[in-house]
Parts: sequence; C-alpha cells; structure tokens
Amino acid sequence: MTFRKKTDLTGLDIGSGAIKAAEIANTKTGSVLKKFGIIRISPGIIEKGNINEPEVVAESIRALFSKYGIKNRNVAVSVGGPRVIVRKISIRNKKEDEIHNLIRSEAEQYIPYNMEDINFDYRILEKQEETPRHRDILIVAAPKNMTDSYVRVVEMAGLKPWIMDVDVLALQNAFELNYKITNQCIMLIHTGTGRTCLSVLKNNSLFFVQDLDFGCGEINKKIVSVIGCTLDQAEEIKLTRKSQFISEQDLKKITLLFAREWCLEVSRALDFFYSTYPDETVNKIILSGGGANISEFREVLTDQTSADIRMMNPFKNFKTDKIRFTDSMLKKLAPQAAICMGLSVRRRNQAGL
Ligand SMILES: Nc1ncnc2c1ncn2[C@@H]1O[C@H](COP(=O)(O)OP(=O)(O)OP(=O)(O)O)[C@@H](O)[C@H]1O
Ligand SMILES: [Mg+2]
Repeated sequence: MTFRKKTDLTGLDIGSGAIKAAEIANTKTGSVLKKFGIIRISPGIIEKGNINEPEVVAESIRALFSKYGIKNRNVAVSVGGPRVIVRKISIRNKKEDEIHNLIRSEAEQYIPYNMEDINFDYRILEKQEETPRHRDILIVAAPKNMTDSYVRVVEMAGLKPWIMDVDVLALQNAFELNYKITNQCIMLIHTGTGRTCLSVLKNNSLFFVQDLDFGCGEINKKIVSVIGCTLDQAEEIKLTRKSQFISEQDLKKITLLFAREWCLEVSRALDFFYSTYPDETVNKIILSGGGANISEFREVLTDQTSADIRMMNPFKNFKTDKIRFTDSMLKKLAPQAAICMGLSVRRRNQAGL
C-alpha cells in the first residue's frame, strides 16, 4: 500500500470531449500511478475553452471520481487554447530581483488583454551562453474569466483546486518526466477534440508554442454533414469505424481529408519555427491527445516529414500495479493521459496561474 503525501495532487484535465483524472502517490522510490479514469462528455458542453454547461461538467467530474475510486480531492487543473498566452520573451540581462520588478510591464506589450483582466505568471529561464546580454523569460497569461470558470466548476464538483496550470506546460512536464532531455529540438503535437497544441522543446526549455482551435472533433462535424446524424452518433462512428449509413471507404476519405488539413497546419507551424530559428532542426515529433490515435494522422505526417514520429507514453516512468493497469490498457489510455499525468505530479506548494 502506498500512502499519499499531504502535498500530492490529483491531475484533472477537463477537455471538451473527455475529462481525465490521475491520482498518484510520490514515494521514496518514485511516483506510483494509483488511479486513472476517463469520462466522455457530449459535444457543446465545453467549446473553445468556454464551459457552457458548468453543472453538467461538475456532475461528470463527480461521476469520474466516484467511478474510479479517486480519493485525493485536491487537484491541479489546466487551461489551454488560443486565449491562453505562453510566450518566450527576451529582455536585457539584469539581476533576478530587478527582473521580478520589471517583468509585468515588459510582458504587457506581448499580452493582448488588460493586465487586470488576466492571471499572469512567468519563469526566468537559464542563462544562454550564446546570448549573455539577454535573459529569456517564459510568460504565461490566461483571462481571469476563463480560469475562474474552471475553478468554479471544480469547486462545484466538491474538489479543491490548488494549482491552475496551462496545457502546454503540463504537456512539457509529462514529456520531461518520461523522456531524456537532449539538446535536440523536439516537437510535441497534442490533438484533442477541439484543439491542437504545437510546441518545440530544446534541452528543457520551450522554444515555440502555437495553439489552434482545430481538433479531431472536425471529423465528427463532417460525418454529421454527410449522413445527418447527431454529433454523439458521429463520435461513435469515428471510434468504431462502422456504420450502416456510411461506407468504410467514405469514412477513410473524410479522415484523410482532415489529416491533410491538420498536417498543413503542422507544416505552417514548422515553417514559422524555422523562420525564427533558422539554425535549428526538428528531428523528432511526439504525438499525444486522443487525435494521436488516428492512424491517418500518423500516415500523412510520416509522408510529409523526415522527422522520427512517436507516440507519447506519459506512464513510462511511473510505477503501476500490473493487475489494475494491464500493459494494453495503459497503451490505449496513453495519448489521452498526457496532460493529466503532467498535472498529477504538481504539488500544493508550487506556483500556478
Ligand atoms: N482510437 C481512437 N480513434 C479515433 N479517435 C479517437 C480515438 N481515441 C480518442 N479519439 C478522439 O480523441 C478525442 C478525445 O481526445 P482528448 O481527450 O485528448 O481530447 P479533449 O481533451 O477532450 O479535447 P480538447 O483538449 O481539444 O478540448 C475525441 O474526439 C475522440 O474521438
Ligand atoms: Mg485536451
């Protein structure tokens, strides 16, 4: 039996297609995955980071905790999408306490909101030998009305939100917990139901982030427009790849069309990255999010890039009970678990938004 520490948190990833929760225990010999659960939510309840139906989301979170026996009600949550700003800025090198005093006014020019309307945080990054006169800082900002709505829904579910993180940092965390950090550029592509987040990491620093309001829920919309079913039915058809109303070939065509559009966005992001960092090369791409399960994504991406493409396994360095979590179960859950696992290792006493 493993006992949880007072500072341990449950990672809670509130997505627009599924809510995920991971309870871990930090022990002397490493982190142990105690519980992990996913519950689907219907389309429209959360859209583009807006919680349209808070009662339904709170009820789903309650059901998730109860179904999977998750006991630790202290949680770390995250927000993401194009309204959340995550950006690396560079300022003239100064002493760290001077940077702390300056950073809000410096950051203001990169944030398209009034500073009083946002939650703001930053990390002073390691000094770079190549640019000794400058210091890189990662700024993070999210509209208060957005973070407040997530806090409210978590409290309505009877949980205590200790940390508000952002998806891309939770994803970086998940990657760093499980993979060796190298000085190669690695692109993380996380595709959920309504959003895709692209980021490039080098060493343990975020170089580049781009959030798109574009996820694999687009496939469902297309299925609806072709056969006139509901979005929920389209989700079932997408997952099972079977329907009496549409042939497997037509389904494949729809999926391929979407995969090509998605790859176009990825190559645009890569072009933008190379125009900013012409000396860098992305030679590895790590996929996560439920969209990573779609084989057409991987096929089209493999055709279009010479990078090594892998799926993220966010459970890799966690100890697991082999009876509760079989290898095939973990493999199936892995893509959708990435952000949640990155959140689960946060501690009560750490900073967040
Ligand atoms: N095996 C699979 N084949 C096809 N699609 C899948 C598969 N597994 C999951 N998905 C899709 O992945 C999506 C859910 O992924 P995920 O949980 O990462 O998204 P989310 O967090 O709910 O969305 P978002 O973060 O964009 O709000 C759903 O659209 C689901 O249909
Ligand atoms: Mg998500």
